[in-house]
Amino acid sequence: MANIFERDNIFEGIQQENVIFKDKRPLDHRFLPEKLLHREDQVTQIARYWVDALNDVTPTNITIYGKTGTGKTATAKFARSQLLEYSADQDVFIKIEYIRCTDYTTEYQVLAQLCKKLGRDVPHRGWTKAEVVNTFRDIFRTNAFGKKLILIVILDEIDILLNKDGDGILYTLTRTDNVSILSISNFLDFKGLIKSRVTSSLNDKEIVFPPYNASQLTDILNERAKLAFNEGVVESDVIPLCSAMAAKEEGDARFALDLLKTSGFIAGEEASETIKSEHVKMAKDRIEHDKFVDVVKTLPTQQQRVLEAVLNLTNENEEITSGKLYDAYKEVSKKDAVTYRRIFDFINELEMLGIISTNTISRGRGKGRTNIIKLQCDEDLLESSLYDPTI
Ligand SMILES: Nc1ncnc2c1ncn2[C@@H]1O[C@H](COP(=O)(O)OP(=O)(O)O)[C@@H](O)[C@H]1O
Ligand SMILES: [Mg+2]
Repeated sequence: MANIFERDNIFEGIQQENVIFKDKRPLDHRFLPEKLLHREDQVTQIARYWVDALNDVTPTNITIYGKTGTGKTATAKFARSQLLEYSADQDVFIKIEYIRCTDYTTEYQVLAQLCKKLGRDVPHRGWTKAEVVNTFRDIFRTNAFGKKLILIVILDEIDILLNKDGDGILYTLTRTDNVSILSISNFLDFKGLIKSRVTSSLNDKEIVFPPYNASQLTDILNERAKLAFNEGVVESDVIPLCSAMAAKEEGDARFALDLLKTSGFIAGEEASETIKSEHVKMAKDRIEHDKFVDVVKTLPTQQQRVLEAVLNLTNENEEITSGKLYDAYKEVSKKDAVTYRRIFDFINELEMLGIISTNTISRGRGKGRTNIIKLQCDEDLLESSLYDPTI
């Protein structure tokens, strides 16, 4: 980025961004577009189940599966606003509450939040679970409209809640009359987190969201680009490039939008009047860089120490065996070190994140096998992620 103090006024270069952007909001991942391209089938499937609510029948439970960025959240919210809009002037009493299970991670918290949304105050903590469950169920017994309330609960990223707090929330909700659940999960094996007594009462219909291909991503980006950028700003090869890159990353629309947005910022910073393919390449590097820094900075302390030890040994050009790593780790941790066995868990987790690799080699007959650990990221970047508080 050019040094802002070289200009007469700090706003001079920054305002250049306005040449690029008409409105940044459509590129935000929380933005809800007016239409969801290439998700007609999935929206229709949800509508076919939810239409029962218009006839005072509690809809069947639904589970949506798909990888990150396949439009699960957007589709559920879209179906929600459509049903609320359509039912507004009909003789039914439908509520649809959206719960992000990263914000409400226990059964208590979810039920308390639902009660609050439906006009019953429950303290954030302090009550027994039975008290909260009773208050929640009571809402369905009496209501001001003298009408049967049908509640549809959207539980987004439900695997987080199930992992943390078990399947109690599904047990309670499936055993409350007039409640229909729409669960959203990034993982296909989420059913492994619930017991069979709950699976059978859930009795859900499943909808799978496949990854987007490059041409579908191009359609999605074109729509957003019209809203976000000034005319003629996006060069013709930019959107196809963002789409191709995101199609490689498992068809992730969020990543595609992020690439386009970041490319726009970079073009602005470079005082370019248009967004070019080179800005997209820079955007990809910047996003990956930021993601890596974020991962390293939010690692638990013990794992950061293992990484520090790997970095120290790498800097000394040592071949890193598990034994050597443990010694180096003890040096970093001083008195606070965990056992040799625990270290293997950390090594596994760091390998899953792609930060290090391990390779078992045989030293030859009778000498046994050794684990060799290697850093899989840029040393300087790792060093600054670990030690530099400013990035
Ligand atoms: N079919 C689509 N049409 C338009 N925008 C979409 C579509 N699918 C996803 N998006 C956008 O991509 C981003 C990621 O989608 P999201 O629904 O959050 O994915 P998921 O919940 O599956 O991780 C959001 O900004 C969303 O608006
Ligand atoms: Mg989502």
